[in-house]
Amino acid sequence: MKVYVTRPVFDGAIDRLRREFEVELNTEDRILTKQELTAHLRDKDGALTLLTDAIDLELLQSTPRLKVVANFAVGFNNVAVDSATQLGVAVTNTPGVLTETTADFAWTLLMAAARRVVEADKFARAGKFKAWGPKMFLGYDIYGKTLGLVGLGRIGQAVARRAAGFNMRVVFHDPESIPDRIIKELGVTRLPFDELLRVSDFISLHVPLFPETHRLLNDHTFALMKPTCIVINTSRGPVVDEKALVSAVRDGKIAGAGLDVFEREPEIEPELFAMENVILAPHIASASHETRLRMCMMAADNLIAALKGERPPNLVNPEVWDKRRK
Ligand code: GLV
Repeated sequence: MKVYVTRPVFDGAIDRLRREFEVELNTEDRILTKQELTAHLRDKDGALTLLTDAIDLELLQSTPRLKVVANFAVGFNNVAVDSATQLGVAVTNTPGVLTETTADFAWTLLMAAARRVVEADKFARAGKFKAWGPKMFLGYDIYGKTLGLVGLGRIGQAVARRAAGFNMRVVFHDPESIPDRIIKELGVTRLPFDELLRVSDFISLHVPLFPETHRLLNDHTFALMKPTCIVINTSRGPVVDEKALVSAVRDGKIAGAGLDVFEREPEIEPELFAMENVILAPHIASASHETRLRMCMMAADNLIAALKGERPPNLVNPEVWDKRRK
């Protein structure tokens, strides 16, 4: 069988794939166009894809041999999963292995934004530190404050666990039912969404991108937040209306933001570049040496299992399995 890997990834994963299949690679570190991707996938049985590859209905219809799309990410909004299911294509993701690393980074952004670390670093590097000043770079305390988690799945829970060391009140909103045992263990309180927006000093987003979460933060929701609130997004860019965020920061409706993801990635709303109280990161929340390797191996293992006819461990569309393309 033949598989395609859409960007240079880790050698260990490629070696593992090579032991099972004929492997073709995009060796250029750039995103392929839809035409290129379609052309490469036309004669392939499986693909190891990244979150930057748009796997849509048209592509899936043009690649009738393709049986598995193994996405190197926990998020899978780049894949038209419903279409894949209809056409019998299995889709897999990489949950779990990036949970703690992503939670670490949500905290990195939170702390850096609250204490103005990036701004202060630029100041010191520019040789502007001439004297200690009592009001120099005043930020916001973190300990004892209220952290609002939008989404209490794996990553939201890992972020909540870290808050214990800061003696924070942690509130959450999640339409899913969360076992009482977890709520008790984490010491978190469920709140209606609007209430969470009103009481939180920090709001961190941990929801997948679905139609229901598209632009969950918008003009209306920013208006409900405290003017001292800091918003952290390590989920998906389109969960936030980025123009509304720009207005909220500019008009002082919130105090700042830490953003790892953007609505039209890799584009960033230009006004954000000039905002000192917004930290911008290029979608790196899971980017530790250890975690990216684990994600890649997991994607390879999913691909191998599925093409060998074994149900892959991280099948996003389990309903496809009995009617999958053979
Ligand atoms: C990264 O954004 C992922 O979904 O794994």
